[in-house]
Amino acid sequence: MRLCLRTRLLYVLFVPLLIVIAYIGTYLSYYICRFSGHPVEKCLLSSNMRLIPGNHIYNSLDLWSRTDVTRLSASGFIFRFSGHPVEKCLLSSNTRLRPGNHIDNSLDLWSRTDVKTCTSWGAPIMWEGMFDPHVYDEYHKKTGTSVALTVFAIGRYLEMYLKDFLTSAEQHFMVGLPVTYYVFTDAPESVPAVGLGAGRALEIVRVQRQERWQDISMMRMRTIADAIQSRIRLRHRYVFCLDVDQVFAARFGSEALGESVALLHAFFYLSPVAEFTYDRNPNSTACMETGDFYYHAAVFGGTWQSVKNMTESCYRGIMTDKENQVEALWHDESHLNKYLYRHKPSKVLSPEYCWSTEVGYRREVRVHRLLWAEKHYDMLRT
Ligand SMILES: *[C@@H]1O[C@H](CO)[C@@H](O)[C@H](O)[C@H]1NC(C)=O
Ligand SMILES: *[C@@H]1O[C@H](CO)[C@@H](O)[C@H](O)[C@H]1NC(C)=O
Repeated sequence: MRLCLRTRLLYVLFVPLLIVIAYIGTYLSYYICRFSGHPVEKCLLSSNMRLIPGNHIYNSLDLWSRTDVTRLSASGFIFRFSGHPVEKCLLSSNTRLRPGNHIDNSLDLWSRTDVKTCTSWGAPIMWEGMFDPHVYDEYHKKTGTSVALTVFAIGRYLEMYLKDFLTSAEQHFMVGLPVTYYVFTDAPESVPAVGLGAGRALEIVRVQRQERWQDISMMRMRTIADAIQSRIRLRHRYVFCLDVDQVFAARFGSEALGESVALLHAFFYLSPVAEFTYDRNPNSTACMETGDFYYHAAVFGGTWQSVKNMTESCYRGIMTDKENQVEALWHDESHLNKYLYRHKPSKVLSPEYCWSTEVGYRREVRVHRLLWAEKHYDMLRT
């Protein structure tokens, strides 16, 4: 009996201790690799090595110009760090992005040499330093731009996140422009009162609560499309659709407006396509073999016409999947990625526009405009 007790005591005390030690060990080794220039993180190829046979363009890369960062990943060579030609905007410096005097022609794609500032199809990727906020704000004030911001606050997401989301949006989201928040909720009476600036309004739209959070997330596409059709299109040129579990922390301004706008996922903006978490199940309509970027469904937008097409198309894909009894890996985000691969966005937002502190420090991310709030999935998704 006593022995039994002692054994139990041993387990109670030592097992948690071992777990803590293992955890700290993992964290420390990760830390050392990432930050201290540990040799494991470097490119281990000898300096006369060619990456690809023949005179492939990649052979022009100077992998040894940077000795402080890796140039190679487990999955082959990739180009994660600054100063790499492939990562940059390949347009010549007198290229105009758009015909005429489109506002996006005011962007300086070459003011940032450490990040990719345009896509292969000529859409700007928005980073701090590329745009003049006043030029954008003045233009949109002059043209009478008005913006709808849709947000879903269902179940406990409402009490947990909505107030901070709205309060911080008043400080940072499209300040100076007319904005209407469309709050979709199953509990209209619980929507907090938030002081709104001039020209800003809030509308509550009652929606049915779905059983599973996956369904809430997917039905959102249908609900947004309906709201655009019934009210948004009559009042607003632009729509932004955001997740509620986020907090604005710096300017998220009119420079982000465009025909169709997508956000680079903070976890994947430096990753090669092979690492993107696209849906790879051929039975799903969201299945994709390859793509351009991994977009984050926490932020997307555009003109109401574009967002209507986007959300309707995602909804159709989701319903077809339901009929076939499959569900895409990341639900509505998988469908959104498929849509945006087929219909290229006209503007791409850098991860400044939805940063996660979990990623850690990144030199090129100079501003955190919107931050993921702490997740409480254990409480929320039950
Ligand atoms: C796809 O559907 C087919 C036919 O219903 C089934 O046999 C197969 O296992 C499915 N594949 C996956 C990856 O779910
Ligand atoms: C939306 O879809 C319709 C019908 O498919 C198409 O005619 C229209 O050009 C699309 N508009 C936008 C802005 O994508």
